[in-house]
Amino acid sequence: MSHPFDVAAMATLYASKSPQDILKFAFEQFGDELWLSFSGAEDVVLVDMAWKLNKNVKVFSLDTGRLHPETYRFIEQVREHYGIAIEVLSPEAAAVEALVKEKGLFSFYKDGHGECCGVRKIAPLKRKLSTVKAWATGQRRDQSPGTRSQVATMEVDGAFSTERNPLYKFNPLAQMSSEEVWAYIRMLEIPFNPLHERGFISIGCEPCTRPVLPNQHEREGRWWWEEATQKECGLHAGNLIAKN
Ligand code: ADX
Ligand code: SF4
Repeated sequence: MSHPFDVAAMATLYASKSPQDILKFAFEQFGDELWLSFSGAEDVVLVDMAWKLNKNVKVFSLDTGRLHPETYRFIEQVREHYGIAIEVLSPEAAAVEALVKEKGLFSFYKDGHGECCGVRKIAPLKRKLSTVKAWATGQRRDQSPGTRSQVATMEVDGAFSTERNPLYKFNPLAQMSSEEVWAYIRMLEIPFNPLHERGFISIGCEPCTRPVLPNQHEREGRWWWEEATQKECGLHAGNLIAKN
């Protein structure tokens, strides 16, 4: 695989730089071909920072069909607030129907979230990323001690690259703490998902996310019936591969 730049060296160089510097570098390398993945949660910070650098920034969201009503409304609010066209990706209807027919609407509580996430998130993401050279996510190291403590500022995507097409993955918020993210949201008065006012810190799909208790880690509100080390849905499977 040939790379336009030395990813590992640049990741180290940018490790202590600001998210905006990382985004600037990503835009310099990929221009309008860089896609942001926006989950409709506090990663609105990533959208805000990127939009301030490039008004043509491209954004997509994975609509699993199971998001909270608040999240759908928030994605729409962000679209209007920034005047950007958020590409909302749907899972393949036939695949969802087959899963639900076989196992019902809540199979993940019985046999884990892998299969449902595979159909509702990973397949559409894979389809999208096969057309893309680089993407940026709102992943942060402090989001999940079990799986994200090593997240790099930039990497070659360990899960979605192909031998022919390396896919570059930027994680501009990698070094930001939750506290810093929230200071940014409040200071700049940018919109946020109202679920955050009701005890939700991390937000995913409605059946698989719950508010956390005081001093519980935010990741404990996600797929709470599963082990901490399994709490990746495959979107960031590279985090798990890297650990093995
Ligand atoms: S997840 O893998 O556990 O669901 P998390 O909710 O922590 O991910 O979000 C981390 C980053 O993954 C987000 O900032 C975003 O870049 C991406 N992401 C997660 N869910 C979605 C989604 N539904 N649509 C688009 N991007 C998403
Ligand atoms: Fe399905 Fe839950 Fe994964 Fe959403 S988070 S795709 S509902 S298993």
